[in-house]
Amino acid sequence: MTSSNLNRRRFLLLVGSGLAVGGAAYTYARGVRFPLLHFAGAGPVDHWSVDGIGVVVKGAVFQSVEPDGLRLRAFVPEPEVKMRGDGRAAMRIVLENLHPNARLTVNRAETGGQSVVEEQRDNLTRTITVKPTGGNETGISWRFPNPERYRFAAIGDSGGGTELRWVLKRASALGADFLIHLGDIYYEKGDFDRASINLNTADIPTYAAIGDHDFSKGWRALYPKFHRLIGPSNWVFSLGGVEFVNFDTAAHFFPTARGRRAQILQNLAQVGSGDSVRDRVAVTHTPLSDPDPERNHALSRPAAARWLRERLLASGTRRLLAGNIHIKAEFDDRGLHTYIAGQGLAHADLIVDRPYAEILVGDVEPGQTVRYQWKPLNMPVEAHCSARIMRVLDALERPELKARLRKLCS
Ligand SMILES: [Fe+2]
Repeated sequence: MTSSNLNRRRFLLLVGSGLAVGGAAYTYARGVRFPLLHFAGAGPVDHWSVDGIGVVVKGAVFQSVEPDGLRLRAFVPEPEVKMRGDGRAAMRIVLENLHPNARLTVNRAETGGQSVVEEQRDNLTRTITVKPTGGNETGISWRFPNPERYRFAAIGDSGGGTELRWVLKRASALGADFLIHLGDIYYEKGDFDRASINLNTADIPTYAAIGDHDFSKGWRALYPKFHRLIGPSNWVFSLGGVEFVNFDTAAHFFPTARGRRAQILQNLAQVGSGDSVRDRVAVTHTPLSDPDPERNHALSRPAAARWLRERLLASGTRRLLAGNIHIKAEFDDRGLHTYIAGQGLAHADLIVDRPYAEILVGDVEPGQTVRYQWKPLNMPVEAHCSARIMRVLDALERPELKARLRKLCS
């Protein structure tokens, strides 16, 4: 072997091990998801430049480029948009998923900023046209109508079709100002697109956790579409002193204490300290424990469940809302009172032949912790119009109901 060959081999070995060490460090810092072996995302992209206008967004994900602007979807009740332009071009921003009574606020920073801002409303979607003046920043935000007194509903495992449409209708009829969806919107092909229509035509906005069915199907990644049409995997917002924190339990995550999820959970303020966080509502898809250990549909890595529970309890969090198991339950999970609201498909109604499934409702009032109660979901038979339900009815041996549904759904 010549010395030049030896040097070359040493060099390649050095580069190879450098890459391996670098790759391992990167993986360790960001975290990987498995199955799929994808890196966990750092959170949604929050800044763009369109036709010379710089846009920075807080609390909304990018959906698509629109003529003269952008389409975004809010994943918090009070999103913010900041723009900086040269005063020549105007820009349109279409923002989905706002409370119908959310109020637009415009802050024109620095002197002389007279940006043109127009707002149009279409149900939960607002379209604003902005012409930022040269050099100045225009900040736009929306304020939730009554952050001191409001109601929310929570349920998961609805799929994206007619059952989800009913869940939204029922939540609104119960007086909820928004829905917390506890994950599993995707059960069959087309569910994200159906969900997108159902969410945008509802009376109230939805903030959703990502479920295992939304994350992947076999080795096919579904989560990029969830991130674009529904929202990010992790989010946090505060409304009237109550903080809602959603953390991702859709797939395994390694190492547990790294990545975006850990970053959010490690930086939670202490509940009750000062006035900033009076109460916290923790939200996720997969519960950290199953009240029925025989069934055990909880998070399958006990070490991860333990770490998540410890983080929540250490920050004074006492309530967790989860889905995944298609039941209604509440139980004490070592100090973390856990609600499982996983009856979004209301299959139980068909099994027992009467209204049985329930939706969780939370009330926020000044100075109080959130008050929870269960309400009947009352899903009508004609809301069960998925291809999936036909297979369920076959399994339940209900040919007459199947024939009736076929007629109702056609
Ligand atoms: Fe699930």
